[in-house]
Amino acid sequence: MKMFSTVVLVSAIAISGHAVAGDQAAGKSAYAAKGCIGCHGAGGVSVVPAYPSLKGQSEAFVMENLTNFRSGKRQNPTMNAMAAGLKDADIENLAAYIGSL
Ligand code: HEC
Repeated sequence: MKMFSTVVLVSAIAISGHAVAGDQAAGKSAYAAKGCIGCHGAGGVSVVPAYPSLKGQSEAFVMENLTNFRSGKRQNPTMNAMAAGLKDADIENLAAYIGSL
């Protein structure tokens, strides 16, 4: 099992070509399960003007902004609350998924 996850991790790094090994499939599930989809829309295309579309944003942008919402460096009551419960791995996975849209 340990060997299997090492292989998966190494391939994820090889495919993405850089050190952030977020899992797109897990990010897609989290995007729905954590309610992001309710505001930011299916496929990151928001249908509500108050909520920005995320399609087209880079993985690095999403990583940075979710980290900043979580720490409070970027202030927005809604997103501060949404990001508060995210683990580092959640942020990496969500960034990998959103960055692929
Ligand atoms: C209740 C609605 C709501 C939910 C649910 C929500 N967001 Fe947001 N999100 C917002 C709003 C509003 C903003 C704009 C905040 C601002 O103006 O600073 C935003 C901004 C963002 C941004 C920055 C976009 C930009 O253009 O700067 C990212 C990235 C983001 N959200 C990701 C997520 C993720 C990932 C989730 C799920 C964990 C999520 N959001 C859940 C409402 C929501």
